[in-house]
Amino acid sequence: MTNYKRTTVTSALPYANGPVHIGHLAGVYVPADIYVRYLRLKGEEVLFIGGSDEHGVPITIKAKKEGVTPQDIVDRYHGIIKKSFEEFGITFDIYSRTTSKTHRELASDIFKTIESKGGFIEKTNEQYYDESAQQFLADRYITGKCPHCGNENAYGDQCEACGTSLNATDLINPKSAISGNVPVMRETKHWYLPLDQHEAWLRKWILEDHKEWKTNVYGQCKSWLDMGLQPRAVSRDLDWGIPVPVPGAEGKVLYVWFDAPIGYISNTKELCDSQPEKYGNWEKWWKDDDTRLIHFIGKDNIVFHCIVFPAMLKAEGSYILPDNVPANEFLNLEGDKISTSRNWAVWLHEYLVDFPGKQDVLRYVLTANAPETKDNDFTWSDFQARNNNELVAIFGNFINRAMVLTQKYYDGKVPALGELTDYDKQTLEEFVNVKADVEKLLNNFRFRDAQKEAMMLARIGNKYLADTEPWKIAKTDMNRVATIMHLSLQIAANLAIAFEPFLPFTSKKLRTMLGMTTFSWKDLGKIDLLKAGSQLEAPELLFEKIEDEIVQAQVQKLLDTKKANEAAAYKAAPVKENVAFEYFMKMDIRVGTVLDCKRVPKADKLLQFRIADGLEERTILSGIAQHYPNPEELIGSQVCFIANFEPRKLRGVMSEGMILSAEDANGRLVLIQPKVNVTNGVEVK
Ligand code: 2FM
Ligand code: ZN
Repeated sequence: MTNYKRTTVTSALPYANGPVHIGHLAGVYVPADIYVRYLRLKGEEVLFIGGSDEHGVPITIKAKKEGVTPQDIVDRYHGIIKKSFEEFGITFDIYSRTTSKTHRELASDIFKTIESKGGFIEKTNEQYYDESAQQFLADRYITGKCPHCGNENAYGDQCEACGTSLNATDLINPKSAISGNVPVMRETKHWYLPLDQHEAWLRKWILEDHKEWKTNVYGQCKSWLDMGLQPRAVSRDLDWGIPVPVPGAEGKVLYVWFDAPIGYISNTKELCDSQPEKYGNWEKWWKDDDTRLIHFIGKDNIVFHCIVFPAMLKAEGSYILPDNVPANEFLNLEGDKISTSRNWAVWLHEYLVDFPGKQDVLRYVLTANAPETKDNDFTWSDFQARNNNELVAIFGNFINRAMVLTQKYYDGKVPALGELTDYDKQTLEEFVNVKADVEKLLNNFRFRDAQKEAMMLARIGNKYLADTEPWKIAKTDMNRVATIMHLSLQIAANLAIAFEPFLPFTSKKLRTMLGMTTFSWKDLGKIDLLKAGSQLEAPELLFEKIEDEIVQAQVQKLLDTKKANEAAAYKAAPVKENVAFEYFMKMDIRVGTVLDCKRVPKADKLLQFRIADGLEERTILSGIAQHYPNPEELIGSQVCFIANFEPRKLRGVMSEGMILSAEDANGRLVLIQPKVNVTNGVEVK
């Protein structure tokens, strides 16, 4: 839409059943915030809506596990999530929740309107029912054996061992996760949104009228549409959610994906109703053809925002449809999928404890590496490199030099501009292009490239100072120095504006240092933002180097998590057949001291031990070299070995026995060693 009056920007409502992590920030909230800040800086009318998604089965499961109510769970996480967003400078106009009264009423009203227009079909089918708990079972509440991989603990919607999506009826030997009993099949009625009846207009609206959508979004929509749409149930048998507001629906609630997107609308209503003079009537944000609606989401939400929600809105009849849905792909962490249950994440609240005041560093890195067109990987080494080589070395360095030199030569006052040289003019030409490029990229939701382009201002500034070398000229020509410093400071002021959407905390600090009280996007590209003679504040460093130990500690934290996960997932092998005592006594296990230990040439895995065994000395080879990178450190320690193990030749060396080790959950071999020294040659029994 090119001619619009205002923009409603929404960002996916996160489930309030856990804190938020870098994947959330990178995929949805930072891009949405950059976009909204940009529109605000341009002076456009824009509303930024957020909130917590507080219904759905996983929340009830978590509550059961902890022995608290679902409301307790959502109260806890809504608070934590809201705080994290505030701390990272995500500037929602409202961050509310789907357990609010306004939301319950509006979601009910929308359901009733669609129902009264004949927009649903009702169907009765059979579903698993737990007779002892007297309730129907959501797919997540049924466990059983996966028909694909044999995992005994697969869920009714998915097997987490092999990743296959399942239907509850696929499970072999299904059991209720509530009582452990075998569920029975029972008839139940539900309301369905007949997406098949919406297919024709959806095809035209998306595939013909919205060819400009991002290819990942367009492609996913096309494949859904090409497969043919089916009616989707919008109600569930559950006791947590918004009751289905029609007669004959006792014990049924709206499906979480029916009520959640309505949360965008109800949160708008809550905001506008509370401050009508500032925001106007809520309906103008949702029902006026001059309003542009944009949904920021992750790729797993595409079908709901591009197909299901628009079909709901169309069925209701009075709402506008989204103009664009710039969904992102996923961010991985150090090569692995981010996972709340495996604690494989960088949690925002923990990041701020480890990196206080460094919100912008994370915002910068997540945007520089945003999963805009494909899944991307966050690594701590990239985090460190981008901070040290880009924020510190380019952005921070330029600002610091400009500020410090002005302090030194002009007592911190902006010097007057003198005559421009050809080189100055050439620099200004490069610099003026940046604005148009950044704008174009932002308008197309290409935040990664937009930030990179904005960084050009700092690169240009740095190069300008390096090439003109005012510290050398200062000895001979202070007029020239004044021009150089004047232009450098104007570039710095431009940086403060260009980076407000990306690095809001830094921009603010920089504006304070430069004494910029007002600023707007239209000022970008100008070189009269700071008046000659105006006083700057004392220079302060914008960024600081992040040392190796700091990122190593973060990597170690993840390695510890991995280890803990592996240990938790480890299943001890079944116990072998019983053996009689005399069989055990046939094994001659003893303790000996390592006299020498070294690698065997050309054998990656083997270590050659020389052992004092209490009688004489013996050589034993053991395949543990990869687990003991410094074999000489074992000299002097004691090991256990099977003394009567048949000797055999390995790599030309006779091995006289077998050294005992345990294999850890992650495949690491660890030598079995007595904790206190014993006499060489004593037996293990
Ligand atoms: O995927 C999720 O985290 C959902 N809670 C997103 C909901 S978006 C909107 F519909 F509210
Ligand atoms: Zn499986």
